[in-house]
Amino acid sequence: MALTPTKEMFKKAFEGGYAVGAFNINNMEIIQAVTRAAAAKKSAVILQVSKSALKYAGPGYLKAMVDAAVEETGIDIALHLDHGPDFETVREVIAAGFTSVMFDGSHYDYEENVAKTTEVTRYAHERGISVEAELGKLAGVEDDVNVDAANATYTDPDQAVDFVSRTGVDSLAIAIGTSHGAYKFKGDAKIDFARLETITAKLAAAGFAEYPIVLHGASSVDEESVATCNAYGGRLAGAKGMPAEMLRKAAAMSVCKINMDTDIRLAMTAAIRKHFGNKPESFDPRGYLGDARVYIQRLIEGKIADVLGSAGSMG
Ligand code: G3H
Ligand code: 13P
Ligand code: ZN
Repeated sequence: MALTPTKEMFKKAFEGGYAVGAFNINNMEIIQAVTRAAAAKKSAVILQVSKSALKYAGPGYLKAMVDAAVEETGIDIALHLDHGPDFETVREVIAAGFTSVMFDGSHYDYEENVAKTTEVTRYAHERGISVEAELGKLAGVEDDVNVDAANATYTDPDQAVDFVSRTGVDSLAIAIGTSHGAYKFKGDAKIDFARLETITAKLAAAGFAEYPIVLHGASSVDEESVATCNAYGGRLAGAKGMPAEMLRKAAAMSVCKINMDTDIRLAMTAAIRKHFGNKPESFDPRGYLGDARVYIQRLIEGKIADVLGSAGSMG
């Protein structure tokens, strides 16, 4: 069995009104938890690897463990580079056998983002690999997202059409209110659904029908995980994330890929803190990492069934 490209996954997701979960992986336990959850829910899944995860685990180890997960579960699994910072990293992961890459040029000025993304896309497409790029700037907790700030940082619909036409990218990550990490925003969560609708309509009018949109920074900052961390010695004050109902609505629209990492980190930390809180005498890594694996699998099963809507998409 082989890894799956994202193109077909997104087509099914768009037409089925759901999103495929893209979960960040860093070690064996996370890979097993996520893929076993996806298998239990009969859902396709995207495993994504950041530059720091590549540095931590190495592309060879990650690819080999993901291959083992494909064999074990038999489900559609794509292996994706998350926030690829440069051409060199893209080349490295394609050589390692990844089936999809993101090039993140969102911090460059517009023309530089277009130029660098086009170069990456040409290289990847020659090798049959899909490319995700990013346009706009995800809000940070310090950003006060009033209308002016939103217009300055959120993705501009006309620019999105120009960007997709000129670069040839296969999917686009947009800024419409989500943000990375456990401390996402002051005040209440907001997603600019009208902007999402306009971007998709303008893309369709320009010949990009059913164009897959990607949402980064979509962890809900699971309250149970935060409470468990804090009950067992953690100090996570004021952490909050994207409400599930907003993500459900985005998934039913044109968002075909939803990224989550922070919720996995919180789940893993909660399970391990709880393990040691209840068993101070424990020192077998299979005990605490095993608890973390069970906890993460339960979390991801919930995301697939209740948030992404992708349960049963594998038939
Ligand atoms: O969006 C970023 C992901 O959460 C990856 O984070 O670079 O610490 O692995 P990382
Ligand atoms: P979270 O920090 O909300 O989990 O977002 C992860 C992400 O977007 C990875 O690319
Ligand atoms: Zn991201």
